[in-house]
Amino acid sequence: MIVMGIESSCDETGVGIVRWEPDNIGDGGRSTATLLADEVASSVDEHARFGGVVPEIASRAHLEAIVPTMQRARAAADIDRPDAIAVTIGPGLAGALLVGVAAAKAYALAWDVPLFAMNHLGGHVAVDTLEHGPMPECVALLVSGGHTHLLHVTDLARPITELGTTVDDAAGEAFDKVARLLDLGFPGGPALDRAAAEGDAQAIAFPRGMTGPRDARHDFSFSGLKTAVARHVEKCERQGVAVSIPDVAASFQEAVADVLTMKAVRACTDLDVDTLVLGGGATANSRIRSMAQERCAAAGITLRVPRPRLCTDNGVMIATLGAHVIGGGAEPSPLTVATDPGMSV
Ligand code: KG4
Ligand code: ZN
Repeated sequence: MIVMGIESSCDETGVGIVRWEPDNIGDGGRSTATLLADEVASSVDEHARFGGVVPEIASRAHLEAIVPTMQRARAAADIDRPDAIAVTIGPGLAGALLVGVAAAKAYALAWDVPLFAMNHLGGHVAVDTLEHGPMPECVALLVSGGHTHLLHVTDLARPITELGTTVDDAAGEAFDKVARLLDLGFPGGPALDRAAAEGDAQAIAFPRGMTGPRDARHDFSFSGLKTAVARHVEKCERQGVAVSIPDVAASFQEAVADVLTMKAVRACTDLDVDTLVLGGGATANSRIRSMAQERCAAAGITLRVPRPRLCTDNGVMIATLGAHVIGGGAEPSPLTVATDPGMSV
């Protein structure tokens, strides 16, 4: 069975194609998918001068990119049509989702193939199977500009449980806002990561949000940290002291990595789960990766991190999730299926 995945929830237009072979059974008796095509068009450069993703611009860019991206994916996989289409219906930007879902419906109708509605977050977890094989029961930490979630996954074909999420800013959003404050450009995450490499991570003691004994164990908060960085910069300016951008970047990054990895390992321990999966664009961050490795090794947890290209939004993750869901016996979605911008897992 060939499954096509269509993704348009934020600023990436993705079309991915995988082959699902029910006989290709890996460890634990679960089937795996094989990647055939991974085409992505991004409007990230168009948002740069606004310092963040502009929904209207993202929607228009999807409309221009969706058909050419689809054609490139079909050519790369050397297929005329898939056997099924999986599409992200949420969570994400309302107008952006509409473009991908409308395209998916049109192709499903024209090709007479079934359509399956997917949750974007599940895709970030499922994509790891392409590199690291069948997914055992796991905890997933998803970190990007749009999401910060801790999930409990028992089986990719079944509903996923959300353990916690951010009560304010997403972690990637905090990276982008702090980078903007430090004049590092957009998207700020990669620039901040580079600046931090030259700094001292212990230089400034920034707060670790929601890590107190009375806080929800698996939820996150990054707005206090962002404000603490702003206060630090203001204080330096008031006192006429030069702001050390590398030290601020390194100390901020250390605080984010500390909270994320502490809570992810804690979730594994609480649930007695020994596999942690990372996903989302911000898991490209060097300190989040290294700290996750250190802490998982110390706690006896197996860490699975897809390569950076698969961590950011793409169509392959939706195709892979679709393959698992279809393989699990799901019924197709009606062609009247709506988008769900605020969708939970
Ligand atoms: O998954 P993604 O491509 O798109 C969203 O769904 O948001 O993630 C993009 C986010 C941005 O906030 C970007 O600043 C952040 O991931 N990011 C990073 C790094 N690379 C990307 N954050 C920290 N360090 C990085 N190296
Ligand atoms: Zn995403």
